[in-house]
Amino acid sequence: MIKHFIDLDSFRKKELRQILSFAQIIKKNPLKYSSLLKSKSLGLLFEKQSTRTRLSFSIGMQKIGGHVIELNKNDVGFESRETTKDLLKTMSQYFDLLIIRNDDHNKLLELASLNILPIINGLSNYSHPCQILSDIFTIEETLGKIENQTIAWVGDLNNVLISLLQAAEIFNFKLKIAVPESILISNHKMIKKMNLRYSKFFTQISKAVKDTNCVMTDVWVSMGEKNSKSKKIILQDFQVNDQVMQYAKKNAIFMHCLPAHRNEEVTDSVIDGKQSKVWQQAQNRMYVQQSILNFLLKS
Ligand code: CP
Ligand code: NVA
Repeated sequence: MIKHFIDLDSFRKKELRQILSFAQIIKKNPLKYSSLLKSKSLGLLFEKQSTRTRLSFSIGMQKIGGHVIELNKNDVGFESRETTKDLLKTMSQYFDLLIIRNDDHNKLLELASLNILPIINGLSNYSHPCQILSDIFTIEETLGKIENQTIAWVGDLNNVLISLLQAAEIFNFKLKIAVPESILISNHKMIKKMNLRYSKFFTQISKAVKDTNCVMTDVWVSMGEKNSKSKKIILQDFQVNDQVMQYAKKNAIFMHCLPAHRNEEVTDSVIDGKQSKVWQQAQNRMYVQQSILNFLLKS
């Protein structure tokens, strides 16, 4: 049975813990694992922009002995030159895994359901599982067990938050979310479907951030979204600034998956401040994803 990495909620806590533990082992002694995936190959198909995901997967795979080829949608004629199934079958003659970033989560699920090649979600319109699993790694590295933390999210209800909501249910940590009421209303049906026991929504930032250990945010307008002007107006009071950080615990950390739109969702003072862990966060993507690649191929 082929294993895919599309959403965190398809995994048991034990499996995600296994990935996190091995990531820690690789990080401690990276040279020891330089042949871990020797002669394996990873294909990258990005339909949207990416710096961190692209680099952390490419460099990460090469550092554990594997090969990487990046494909351009137009070069291979994805969804136009031959059937997707034929294309995937062809790719599987050369690749051992394929990471895709696109704007159509259902397409990812459809490709995974063909069971030809392990598919990794490198961010879709719906979720960003590699980011959040890696952020849990960073939180544990900095603060200790995630189960003992309360996380605050401030801003948009987007793909990164969906993965975070799933993670809260799996790892059983408290998640307090500050989003504008109108965004909450327009996503009401989807949220209800998720049956959330560990997450609570607020429309007042101070209430959401109060006494939390970690404050997270992301851009107000995600890639591929329309109506960016009105979205920015709706979110204008949902900025993480020094005052917002004051509501959190004294030793709280600030996290952002990046890229950041400075002085929109976060001020320079916070992202460049002492509590910010954004660079550690970016670096850890590599170790956690090396562990994900290993997990998909070897477990
Ligand atoms: N955080 C993240 O996924 O960054 P990129 O969009 O640059 O890959
Ligand atoms: N929510 C952002 C995350 C980028 C890593 C986006 O989808 O653009």
